[in-house]
Amino acid sequence: MEQYAVKGGNPLVGEVEIGGAKNAALGILAAAIMTDDTCVIDNIPDVRDTNVMLQAIESIGAHVAKKDRHTCEISGRNIVDHTIDNDYIKKIRASYYLLGALLGKYKKARVSLPGGCNIGLRPIDQHIKGFKALGATVRIEHGMIVAEADSLRGAHIYLDVVSVGATINLMLASVMAEGTTILENAAKEPHVVDVANFLNTMGASIKGAGTDVIRIKGVQRLHGTNYTIIPDQIEAGTFMFAAALTKGDVTVKNVIPKHLESISAKLEELGCQVEESDDAVRVVATRQLNHTHVKTLPYPGFPTDMQPQITVALGLSKGTSIVTESIFENRFKYVDELTRMGASIKVEGNTAIIDGVSKYTGASISAPDLRAGAALVIAALAADGVTVIDDVRFIQRGYEDFHLKLQSLGGIIELVDSEKELQKFRLKTG
Ligand code: UD1
Repeated sequence: MEQYAVKGGNPLVGEVEIGGAKNAALGILAAAIMTDDTCVIDNIPDVRDTNVMLQAIESIGAHVAKKDRHTCEISGRNIVDHTIDNDYIKKIRASYYLLGALLGKYKKARVSLPGGCNIGLRPIDQHIKGFKALGATVRIEHGMIVAEADSLRGAHIYLDVVSVGATINLMLASVMAEGTTILENAAKEPHVVDVANFLNTMGASIKGAGTDVIRIKGVQRLHGTNYTIIPDQIEAGTFMFAAALTKGDVTVKNVIPKHLESISAKLEELGCQVEESDDAVRVVATRQLNHTHVKTLPYPGFPTDMQPQITVALGLSKGTSIVTESIFENRFKYVDELTRMGASIKVEGNTAIIDGVSKYTGASISAPDLRAGAALVIAALAADGVTVIDDVRFIQRGYEDFHLKLQSLGGIIELVDSEKELQKFRLKTG
């Protein structure tokens, strides 16, 4: 079983290239099958979730050809099957985008119920409510969601909660419906905008993405296009916090600084220096971090996918901080692991009360999910001694070459696959 072995203490210094946004890619890869022409999509991160999505669309007959590590040619021309039921697709949350894409194009879809990170109850009632409003019938059968319609008609849909998944899924389902769909209380995340931009380059008519009202005028067909996915806000944010924790100096390159504003603002409150340029952000940390309070919110608020990373940073700050998780109700499970490294954190419901300590100490821990796993790695890079992190497959779902990028910044981290390799790492790093 693969593990990360980390020897903490080195400040991370240097420049790191940020890849394409995983959560935008998942929506875009699903959207690409909605035309019979060819789409060429660039800047797809080479991570487990996007590869699972590519396998899923290939399994129903789509043409998928990798041009290079990050570029893929996709055509939905030869899709023969509207059922997606394989073991791996259940593991990714975004499998539900195939419901919207297949329903929108073929008016029928059968997809296994989605999994994804275990961070609390993750209902999809808003997706289903929207599909029904567009004229589909939706039922659960043998663990699959089955959505069907004779025809789809535009509708006025008010989302009860701000949901990234429901907003993207309903754009997919309505883009070729008859008439106009209005989505109210839509999510405004950069990846929602990216999926809308992609669909528009395919000939869709989507206006207002990035605001809370999105208008989708149905078109008869979509056509092929070439498209480059936006940079990953959360990968960038993770490296920015890695600089803060290790008292380093890291420039994240190939980013859109506007998408990082809530993250940059918090790093400044923590006492870091943050410098923005056109497509890069530099974070410099020289002293112990200040404490602060933070509440996760839909974009442009502080992202829930950065909550573990800021919590591990506040665990090393001066004073007491409060982190409130307002999106998912069970997203503090990693705190037990961090406690094993010496953190002093009390979780009450959706709030973590953090008493900063002066250092973490290396321990054997497990990555409970994708973002928490990454946060524990950056905690390990700041800790005294060696940390061994199990279940790295969760981290590999969303971070490409995570340990290699950290190594290039001077982090002492290796992917080990046996007790022997781990012993070698311990000997080498003293
Ligand atoms: C997406 C991201 C995930 C991120 C999350 C919030 C992908 C693949 N995943 O997840 O990384 O943490 O956005 O930014 O893009 N909800 C309902 N009913 C629904 C849908 C959602 O009650 O039908 C609730 C959820 O339980 C949660 C909140 O709405 O409390 C936000 O969820 P949502 O934005 O849908 O998250 P995901 O799309 O699952």
